[in-house]
Amino acid sequence: MQENFRQFLDRLRQQGELVDLYQPVDIRHIATLVDQAKTALFFHDVIGYDMPVVSGIIRTRERATMALGCETFGEIEQKLAGAIAKPIPPQYVKTSPTREVTLVGDDVDLYKLPIPMSSIYDGGPMITAGVVIARDPELGMNSGIYRFIVKEKALTGIDIVTPNNMRLFAQRALVRGEPLPISISIGTHPFEITGSGYRAPLGVDEMAIAGGIRGEPVELAPCTTIDLPYIADAEIVLEAEILPTGWTWPEGRFGEFTRLMGGLHWNPLVRIKAISMRKDAIYYNLHMPWENTWLAAPTRYAAIRAALRNAGVQVKDINVTLGGCAFWHAVISIKKQPGEGKNALLAALSVMDLKHVVVVDDDIDVNDPAEVEWAIATRVQGDRDVMIVTNARAKPLDPSLPQGYGVVPTGAKVGIDATMPEGIPREYYERITYAYAQTAKIEDYVAGKRDAAGATGDDAAVEELAAKILDTIAVQPLYYTDVAEKYSKYDFRTVARAIGCLHATEKLWQDPRGRLCVRGSQFAAKPPAK
Ligand SMILES: Cc1cc2nc3c(=O)[nH]c(=O)nc-3n(C[C@H](O)[C@H](O)[C@H](O)COP(=O)(O)O)c2cc1C
Repeated sequence: MQENFRQFLDRLRQQGELVDLYQPVDIRHIATLVDQAKTALFFHDVIGYDMPVVSGIIRTRERATMALGCETFGEIEQKLAGAIAKPIPPQYVKTSPTREVTLVGDDVDLYKLPIPMSSIYDGGPMITAGVVIARDPELGMNSGIYRFIVKEKALTGIDIVTPNNMRLFAQRALVRGEPLPISISIGTHPFEITGSGYRAPLGVDEMAIAGGIRGEPVELAPCTTIDLPYIADAEIVLEAEILPTGWTWPEGRFGEFTRLMGGLHWNPLVRIKAISMRKDAIYYNLHMPWENTWLAAPTRYAAIRAALRNAGVQVKDINVTLGGCAFWHAVISIKKQPGEGKNALLAALSVMDLKHVVVVDDDIDVNDPAEVEWAIATRVQGDRDVMIVTNARAKPLDPSLPQGYGVVPTGAKVGIDATMPEGIPREYYERITYAYAQTAKIEDYVAGKRDAAGATGDDAAVEELAAKILDTIAVQPLYYTDVAEKYSKYDFRTVARAIGCLHATEKLWQDPRGRLCVRGSQFAAKPPAK
């Protein structure tokens, strides 16, 4: 049996990653306190509420890694990839401790839950950690996380402006003129949050992906007022329905994963029909933007890798950058065969909401921005290597897109193929390296190492050496460095003078790689025909 939500909180506490605050705290101060804290915070006494609040539990890369039982952040991707390849369907149980208290009808009162405000211009208190489960009569089950803004004691908004599967389900219910029942599980383990945050294709149940991440089925229990399951481990579950109002009600604003204040959205309303919770329920407030970022990032890695595998392109490394809010940008290094820079771009740009993708060769470190920029500088021609696809599916939270009532914007996808172009001689991409790097070590010289002096040749010796060099390069062209090394019993000046003699007597030439060879020989580079 793997860890549940409360056991995860205990583990954070034991490892010094969660601090308990027992004194009374005004709920209005929670967001800024969490923002300032290095650890997760557990507010035991929130003034005016009977329920404690925990927040910030996955606000750092380290805690996100811990949450999924991994040693490194990169391991999360492997875990997720395993889960996508081998989802484990959920297991249905009859009930769970979430049912200890159940409020229906007029007893439903969201004001009793300690739902904090998040950012300064938010439109209201926002439920941020609700894992939503819904069913479409034809398309099957779907899960995801969507925010709910509290409007009345049993009424919220939901943000589904993005063209995702939950929006599709709600749209289809609207066409049928019906509400869309949803369960909202709050206070669940990051396994479930990560699984539901994975944008699976239609028909794939994200709870099965969550099971794959867990390595065992997620337990689901039945709601009472709607025909849907909730996550049995949840602290609180809201049984609700998205009303067939269409995208007509103002919703938000909200401090988004973009690290920007989102604008006012137009969204449907949600009626809460029942609230169930544990007797001692803990309210989990997912703190924006970083808890969202660290949860979402690994899902991109797994999806990109899967898309490129399907496209038959070998990936070396991926960096879904923080500058791109872990949503929009990826740098991908590949072991390229001719033309695959473009194929990789086509595949990667189809993934989730990726907007800008740079593909580099496998000699470039995707985690080093200067290297990536260097690849763009030295390997890209804008007219040949920049791919722009207009009017693709986009994330409306991108503030550079048209916004407003009834607008579902489409956007541009841009790919930069920063791999070495085909048809350019490889030596144009030979990196600068220095001779003797293995033997001449600066620390030895700082410690006093002395080199042995080579012989200094007189004019006769220089001529004799020039003849020897000519014989050598007649057989095999050599770089200047190799000549200097081969005749290192002489000092460098003597070798340079000998080579100078060959220049002066017009016996010297260079092969196409720049090595010294005999003028007029089979090796000699030829100027292009006029
Ligand atoms: C913490 C968190 C909060 C999120 N909030 C929203 C939201 O308010 N609206 C939304 O459309 N997507 C939101 N998402 C993204 C969706 O949950 C995610 O894209 C999901 O895969 C969509 O699934 P679907 O296509 O099955 O509907 C959030 C994701 C996370 C991790």
